[in-house]
Parts: sequence; structure tokens; C-alpha cells
Amino acid sequence: MSAQLKLGVNIDHVATLRQARGTTYPDPLDAFPLCEAAGADQITVHLREDRRHIQDRDVRELRKRLNVALNLEMANNAEIVAIALEVKPDEVCLVPERRQELTTEGGLDVVSQFTALQPTVARLQGAGIRVSLFVAPDRRQIEQSAALRAETVELHTGAFCDAQGPEAARELDLLMEGARTAHALGLTVNAGHGINLATLGAILRIPHMDTLNIGHSIVARAVFVGLRAAVSEMRAAMNAYTGGAV
Ligand code: PXP
Repeated sequence: MSAQLKLGVNIDHVATLRQARGTTYPDPLDAFPLCEAAGADQITVHLREDRRHIQDRDVRELRKRLNVALNLEMANNAEIVAIALEVKPDEVCLVPERRQELTTEGGLDVVSQFTALQPTVARLQGAGIRVSLFVAPDRRQIEQSAALRAETVELHTGAFCDAQGPEAARELDLLMEGARTAHALGLTVNAGHGINLATLGAILRIPHMDTLNIGHSIVARAVFVGLRAAVSEMRAAMNAYTGGAV
């Protein structure tokens, strides 16, 4: 029997709505208690270099107030690394970042950025922060993540969630193979990006999953049913996970 699949709720887009008007609401600090009450195992936020949604104050206050774990997504950027070392989230997920992108578009290129990532991973771990690397389900990227001694890889599910038909089947195969590779290397395996109630069923077929980080679809659904209900729906749907066991 595998442990229960964990749900990380990404609340970036609560902050997106606030920043759209430059108001003080909706406040991510009012969002997290509803997520916790509905069964979120962790809160995930992405502090982007351009501060388009989450602000430094949000991260600092979440760190003080959360009852569940805090997962901070961030680029390997000196200014943001300094904030992470000061705030000390439970986990940092290193992601690639480009200013013009709508959202994180690809996985981190651990292979080509190995030397640049090495000191950051070591400094974060030295401060007691677990390190996750957001990578495409590619064997070399996963192997180099293990070589970097990251605790976790988060497999990028965006390509699968955007695909249809045979292409979706191929992408799902890559995710399943990637999860097996990562697990065999001793890495904790998470997944995220683009997951919604429609794509979740297939995602639940990927073995060895520890945590799913889900944001946009939950906040979008919350517009109609409220945040607590939207998180509860996702949590309930995830309870069918068997971890690959039949
Ligand atoms: N995981 C990572 C590493 C991400 O960058 C994002 C997007 O911020 C997510 C999960 C959540 O993706 P979505 O908002 O599409 O559910």
C-alpha cells in the first residue's frame, strides 16, 4: 500500500488577481487557510523575478503563518536565492524562468546548467531546505538531477496536459518512464503543470508520485465553487491514486 498522494496547492493566481488591479485583495494569506482546511498538504508559490503575482511579503508571511509545508518555486537567480536562504521554505523547486513567458514553459536544463546549479543546491541544502528540480521527463535530466544530489524532481506535466490523442499517450509514457527512472535513482518524484480534473485521471497512472503541485485549474474552478470546494474536489479525485500498484 503506497502512502497517500500529497496535494500542493499553488496560490500564485490569487495574487495575479490582486496585482491586476494593484489592490490589497484577494490576499494569498486569506487563501491558504481554505486550502489547508480542504486537505492541501503544502502551499506552493512562485516568486518570479518580475514579481508579476507573488510578492516578497507574501512569501515571508506564508512562512510565518502556514501550518503545512511551504514550497517556493524560483529561478536560480542570486537575488531570489538570497530571499530563500533568509525565509527558509521547507522546499525550493528550481525552475527555468523567462520574462516574456505566460507561465513556466519548459523544464530546467540541468545538463547544461549543472555547474551553475551546483552551488545553489548546496547552499539551499546547507540551510536545511530540501531541493526539487523541475525537469522534463528526460533520462539525462533526471540522472543529472540525482548527480546534483537534489532530493526531488518535479516532472513537468505541461506537454502531456496540452497534448491530444497519440501524442498524449506518448507524453504519458515518457512521464511514467521518467518516474521509474527517478525512483530507481532514489529521488522523490513530484509532478506539476497544467493538471486539471480532466487530465488528473491519466496523471494518477504515473507510478511513485509523492506530490502533485496544482494551481491554475484550482483557482479557476474556485471562481465558480469557492476555493475550499475547488481544493476538496481535487483532493477527493486524487484519493484514487494507487502509486502504480494494481
Ligand atoms: N509546478 C511548477 C514547477 C510550476 O512552475 C507551476 C506553475 O507555476 C506549477 C507546478 C503549477 O502549474 P499550474 O498552475 O498549471 O497548475
